[in-house]
Amino acid sequence: MPSTPATADLPAAGHSPMTTTAAPVLEIEDLSVRFATPDGEIPAVNDFSLTIRAGECIGVVGESGAGKSQSFLAVMGLLASNARVAGRARFEGRELLGRPAEELNQVRGSRLSMIFQDPMTSLTPHMRVGEQISESLLRHTSTTPAQARARALALLNRVHVTDAERRLDQYPHELSGGMRQRVMIAVALACDPVMLIADEPTTALDVTIQAQILQLLAELKREQGMAMVLVTHDLGVVAGIADRVAVMYGGRLVELGTVRQVLKMPHHPYTQALLRSMPRVDEPADAPLVTIQGQPPNPRRLPPGCAFHPRCEQAQERCRSERPPLVERDGARFACHFPIEWGAPA
Ligand SMILES: Nc1ncnc2c1ncn2[C@@H]1O[C@H](COP(=O)(O)OP(=O)(O)OP(=O)(O)O)[C@@H](O)[C@H]1O
Ligand code: SF4
Ligand SMILES: [Mg+2]
Repeated sequence: MPSTPATADLPAAGHSPMTTTAAPVLEIEDLSVRFATPDGEIPAVNDFSLTIRAGECIGVVGESGAGKSQSFLAVMGLLASNARVAGRARFEGRELLGRPAEELNQVRGSRLSMIFQDPMTSLTPHMRVGEQISESLLRHTSTTPAQARARALALLNRVHVTDAERRLDQYPHELSGGMRQRVMIAVALACDPVMLIADEPTTALDVTIQAQILQLLAELKREQGMAMVLVTHDLGVVAGIADRVAVMYGGRLVELGTVRQVLKMPHHPYTQALLRSMPRVDEPADAPLVTIQGQPPNPRRLPPGCAFHPRCEQAQERCRSERPPLVERDGARFACHFPIEWGAPA
């Protein structure tokens, strides 16, 4: 039976009851992303639907290539030029897909922000930290340069950058990796976004700094009531911060539910396999992990039927030919012909 993984030092910030009734902030419907390549089309994201409500944090998990990043890059209008996107993504009621760059720029970096694994890809190397934080304020609001600098200083303090006054005039290369990640968060927060998309924000950092940045994100979510999408490989991080979890496999959403539903009582065999492959803090550090057999699918050659069938211990004949639809049960969703059954919750 799978157990909830846990990451030390993470506050139980998620699981807020208000989120089930709060207004939708981002409504993604039937999103598909296809990449044109010389060897044919790659279906990277297929029929992906997800609603994120005010103040809630959704953890998005799945192995490499599952389509996590491309789903949210599509929402932000930041896909590579060989991408074709279809579907809908309404942010605060406004459709984002297919909007011209000028219109998207009014939303991006102000109401809706995104942070990435590597701060150096989003920070400008030759611009001082203070200017980078002020930039979006000056672009999106009627703030004066002096006010913007004061706000940049307050934001650096807010994200716990030490010696903030001095940092304002430094360049990104003068800062440590963890410090740069905090600066990137400060840039993302400058205009008080209602939603932050964080794509593997801590993967490139060492373990201690990872925990500090996650603490900061949990704190921001709790105190600012910001909706958050947290893309991560780490289910322990999800357990600590998220309210709900979306599990992706082969470019599709295969399970969605509250942290308790998905991490304690997963219906999808892939989710269960992911949970079993997670290190747990209540086990010795050298305890062997159960790796998921086989490799994640190549989106160019997705297996027919259920894409997980070549790796699934429960696979039956039907799984090889018929793709399981996403079905709803007790507010949770999963796509499996032979889901794991659990008794009534205690
Ligand atoms: N410009 C592109 N052209 C062709 N294929 C692409 C392009 N960008 C992404 N892909 C493919 O889209 C698929 C989904 O990629 P995505 O970046 O969403 O994965 P991911 O779930 O974020 O994985 P990871 O955990 O490694 O970040 C991958 O197979 C990737 O190779
Ligand atoms: S549909 Fe079949 S192959 Fe796919 S996860 Fe369920 S049991 Fe496994
Ligand atoms: Mg990614």
